[in-house]
Amino acid sequence: MCGIVAYVGNKEATPILIKGLKRLEYRGYDSAGIALLNGNLNVYKKKGKVSELEEYLKDQKVDSNIGIGHTRWATHGVPNDVNAHPHFSGKRELAIIHNGIIENYASLKLDLEQRGHVFLSETDSEVFIHFIEDIRDNNQCSLEEAVRLALTKVVGAYAIVIISKDDPNQLIAARKGSPLVIGLGQGEFFIASDASPIIEYTNEVVYLNDLEIAVIKDGRLSIKTIEDVQTTPYIQRLDLELDQIEKGGYEHFMLKEIFEQPKSIKDCLRGRVISEQAHLALGGIRQYLNKLVNADRIIILGCGTSWHAGLVAEYIFEEFARIPVEVEYASEFRYRNPIIKEGDVVIAISQSGETADTLAAIELAKAKGAIIFGVCNVVGSSIARASHEGAYLHAGPEIGVASTKAFTAQVTVLTMMAIIVGHRRGTIKESLFHQLLVDLENLPVKVEKALKTNEQIKYISSIFKDARNFLYLGRGANFPVALEGALKLKEISYIHAEGYPAAEMKHGPIALIDEEMPVMVIATKDQTYEKIVSNIQEVRARKGKVIAIVTEGDKQIEAMADFVIEVPGTHEFLMPIISVVPLQLLSYHIAVMRGCNVDQPRNLAKSVTVE
Ligand code: G6P
Repeated sequence: MCGIVAYVGNKEATPILIKGLKRLEYRGYDSAGIALLNGNLNVYKKKGKVSELEEYLKDQKVDSNIGIGHTRWATHGVPNDVNAHPHFSGKRELAIIHNGIIENYASLKLDLEQRGHVFLSETDSEVFIHFIEDIRDNNQCSLEEAVRLALTKVVGAYAIVIISKDDPNQLIAARKGSPLVIGLGQGEFFIASDASPIIEYTNEVVYLNDLEIAVIKDGRLSIKTIEDVQTTPYIQRLDLELDQIEKGGYEHFMLKEIFEQPKSIKDCLRGRVISEQAHLALGGIRQYLNKLVNADRIIILGCGTSWHAGLVAEYIFEEFARIPVEVEYASEFRYRNPIIKEGDVVIAISQSGETADTLAAIELAKAKGAIIFGVCNVVGSSIARASHEGAYLHAGPEIGVASTKAFTAQVTVLTMMAIIVGHRRGTIKESLFHQLLVDLENLPVKVEKALKTNEQIKYISSIFKDARNFLYLGRGANFPVALEGALKLKEISYIHAEGYPAAEMKHGPIALIDEEMPVMVIATKDQTYEKIVSNIQEVRARKGKVIAIVTEGDKQIEAMADFVIEVPGTHEFLMPIISVVPLQLLSYHIAVMRGCNVDQPRNLAKSVTVE
């Protein structure tokens, strides 16, 4: 949940750490800090954004060639200067940055307190570093060995980096359940939660595996397991360009990512769909494809927006492949003793590939014999690696906390999967198969057209920006789009919003409708069109304000809605990829007009690596 960055080499560490923390701010932004070795081991930290830390550092002497930095999303202890990382050990000889949760910290803390340790913060991370120092001193062992021994005793998830006053050329890092990547430069090393702080310096990286400890000492990297077995670092080349993680002229990452969707969908389809050759293939799911084709049922797992993509996929898989699908919140699934039998198929969806609940749910399903297909955006992420097979989104880095282009790419990948499976099972006729390939190829152009509604949506946003509630209605595959639209609005503009299947409105939400209530209705042409027209009438009869997303040229709804937003039509099961676009734009503009921080909404983080 937090962002970690560290540097050792011959450059000035502070600018590298600050720039890196800014890139990682999407992971948390309630406080930030760095520790540097400059004569002594010094820690500088501040509540608030990285820019506040940067301001504070202007008056400090911060020259150093080695340092660690952290941007926090609070789990233990309120966001303030004291709880911010890095944390000192008791003797202030060591400092730690930590992402994750140490579950047995309370018992460790009690034991340490009974032996005289005094803690300044309320964090589990401070307990962690005291514990390591305690082991080092009691066993008279090296720091590396003390870290290893400590890791055999802590329960929970962590990515840590430790710096020591006595070793000006050493950084020690370890991970379990939280990502860490090590960048290898010319006589310099970088460590970070993801590759974004590293990319402008080197594209040679090593992804640390769970339960591995990396020691960078005197210009050399060595890795061992916590069982004390040496491993050979596997060096990979990063396939990421710097401009992919910068704003490229847009005011916010979210807006950039919304407008990137024609390209991200094209990238997602590239090489996978060629309608002229009747070609549709996902290279990453060849080996276990038969398991998917012959599955009795499919379980889809995800959280947040990824769960919504899973709900859309339920409609698509059941329609095209005629396989029953269950979509589950990963957080519920993992704690309810789910019934899984050998050979069951699970599709795990995650933009970041690091969501703790999704990862734990996968492990549980795997242990019960399920075959896991991962649908992730971040290459080499924990979920991608924990899956048997999978398909990447290829949507490029998503930085804005509110997920946009990942959702459309997730639905695109899942649609391709469902069509492949349906084609193999014979549940899709040849003519429909061809038509769907053409429809897939046309998606980028249609999404581009849907983006042309931007100015109109800006205007609609100006009218409804002060609303206190919003209702989102949809039917069929557009019902999850209603949920996604409501989530977007809640996340970034803090307006209460609910998504509902349109027909369910009469079982409750209809009581909320009055002249104050804006109701977004996704009413594109599909098999339930006439039904949703009736639902619009029901809203109108109670004086609700109807904003309808309709298929181009629709005259019937135009006559009854307060506002209609026209988008291009496509096969009804591909429609969510287009109909979600105006909802993304609406939430964006309303949030901007309300003065909200779009890319870093309060209390949220991009990647939830704690449960
Ligand atoms: C967080 C993010 C959401 C995201 C969810 C699942 O809540 O703010 O945007 O949908 O996590 O993340 P994942 O990386 O697993 O898709």
